[in-house]
Amino acid sequence: MSIDFDFAEGVATIRINRPERRNALDAEHYAWLSEAWCRVRDDPKIRVAVITGAGDKSFCAGADLKSFVNARPSLAELALTQANPLLNRGLEVWKPVVAAVNGFCLGGGMTLLLATDLRVCSEHASFGLTEVKRGVFPANGGTQRVAQQLPHAIAMEMLLIGDAMDAARAERWGLVNRVVPHAQLLDAAMDYASRLAANAPLAVQAAKELAARSRDADLATGLRMEQLFLRILQESEDVVEGTQAFAEKRTPSFQGR
Ligand code: COA
Repeated sequence: MSIDFDFAEGVATIRINRPERRNALDAEHYAWLSEAWCRVRDDPKIRVAVITGAGDKSFCAGADLKSFVNARPSLAELALTQANPLLNRGLEVWKPVVAAVNGFCLGGGMTLLLATDLRVCSEHASFGLTEVKRGVFPANGGTQRVAQQLPHAIAMEMLLIGDAMDAARAERWGLVNRVVPHAQLLDAAMDYASRLAANAPLAVQAAKELAARSRDADLATGLRMEQLFLRILQESEDVVEGTQAFAEKRTPSFQGR
């Protein structure tokens, strides 16, 4: 029972480790997960995060149906909009996040997935917003992001019927980037992570923030924000390094400065 956190070569790996409950999240695991995301956001050494689940059965079976879904927080807690922030609720993490989906990705597992950037899954993975079968709906961004990320009819099928789709169908609808044999899952995720970590960190984070904010802003505002971010990036050492390395036909060494 834990949320495991490893770090190597710019990449933080977060593992939901509660396989006996199919990596379902109770209050304690949600709190630990919140700490892990804050660490990814705040530690300058971390350039990329990978999120996965322990074992080969489940990525995350969602909120704990036995202890969490029926718990009623006090009304006063509703006002604490910044308490225990999550990747999919309230937290702004501009470092890229790669999901390695090793099995069931249901309910809160899906809402977490929808807040990640690149996604690989095992051939046996399945994806479903099962909440409506349990008397609730997918909160933590689920109702919002599924409609943004999938075609309307597919999104409504997931949201309102709640059946799971298999990996091949998830790939067809662009919910995941790649489906791989289970034995290759972490290597495939690490391949994405190391390619992301090799790019200029300030540029990657600016690109992710601009893409995310474009959903809430009109085009003119988005274009202006691009101009401003680009001008600021031109002051960075990494722009000098990136352009010089290209001219000198060598691999750039980006420092995030
Ligand atoms: N909350 C609490 N416990 C959960 C859970 C969840 N979301 N998902 C699985 N578990 C528990 C099971 O109750 C079972 O506990 P037990 O051994 O004490 O009986 C254990 O994890 C193993 O689950 P089991 O159902 O036996 O495994 P399975 O491989 O046959 O099926 C799932 C796995 C994930 C398909 C199935 O457990 C399931 O449908 N879970 C609910 C998913 C869900 O609806 N999430 C949305 C929450 S709003």
